[in-house]
Amino acid sequence: MKIGVFDSGFGGLTVLRELLTSIPLADYLYVGDTARLPYGSKSAATIARYAVSSVQFLVEHGAEYLVIACNTASALAMNQIRAAVPVDVLGVIEPGALAAARITSSKNVSVIGTAATVASHAYQKELQKLGIHAVEKACPLLVPLVEEGWTDHPVTEQVARIYLDELAHEQTGSGNHADVLVLGCTHYPLLKPLLRRVLPGNMHLVDSAQSTAHDAAKHLSSAGSPARSPKVQFFATDSVDKFRQLGSGFLGRPIDDVRLITLPE
Ligand code: DGL
Repeated sequence: MKIGVFDSGFGGLTVLRELLTSIPLADYLYVGDTARLPYGSKSAATIARYAVSSVQFLVEHGAEYLVIACNTASALAMNQIRAAVPVDVLGVIEPGALAAARITSSKNVSVIGTAATVASHAYQKELQKLGIHAVEKACPLLVPLVEEGWTDHPVTEQVARIYLDELAHEQTGSGNHADVLVLGCTHYPLLKPLLRRVLPGNMHLVDSAQSTAHDAAKHLSSAGSPARSPKVQFFATDSVDKFRQLGSGFLGRPIDDVRLITLPE
C-alpha cells in the first residue's frame, strides 16, 4: 500500500511522523507545496486549486490512499480534492473533531488554527454534528514562530498566552467552559510542551495529527507487507535544502532525499 500525504509545506510531516508509527507497513509519498505556502492566509478558491494539483501528482505517482495533512486544505478544499482523484481521501478535521467529542465532558471545545481554517468553521461544523459547541481562534503568528524554530521561546509563550486568553474570554463570555483544545494546524504539535505550560492543568489537548493517523490505521488495518521498514519519498515545490533542514525537526528524524517538483497552476 502506498499512502500519499499532502501538506502546504513541512508542517504535515507531524502527520507523517504519526502515520509511520501507526501504519509502519505502508510506503509513503509526501508532497510539501513549499513554493506556495502558507495556505492559511489564502482564499478558498486558491487553496483548492493548489491542493488539487498536489493530490493529482500523488495519485499519478502511485498513491492508493491519500491523507490531507494540512488543516487548511482539509477545511476548505475537501470536496474538490475528493472529486479530483479516484482514491479514498482522509482529511484531518473529522478525526480531530471526533477525538475532541470523545474526550470532552463539558461538551465545549476550543479550536486553534490558521485564519483560513477558522474562517471556514470546518471544525465548528463537524463538532456541531456531534452535539459539541466549539469556539475557534485564528493564531496566525504561531506558524512563522514554529518555522523559526522558536517552539520553546519566551516570545512564542507570550504570543500563545495572548491568543489563549482571548479564546478563554470568548468561551466564558458565552457562558461555556471548554475542557479540550484542538490543535487545528500542522505546526501546533511542536508547541505541545509550551501550550501545556500556558493552559490550565485540566485542559485536554487533541492533536489532529495523532487522531488522523489513528483513523487512517483503522481504515487500512491490513495494509502493507510485514518485516520491512517503510519507504518514504519526499517531494517539495521549493528549495529541497530548506525542506531537509526544517522538515527533519517536524518529522523527528533526518530527511536525506527530497525531489524538487513543479506543479501545474
Ligand atoms: N499546513 C497548514 C495548516 O495545517 C499551516 C501552514 C500554512 O498556512 O500553509 O493549516
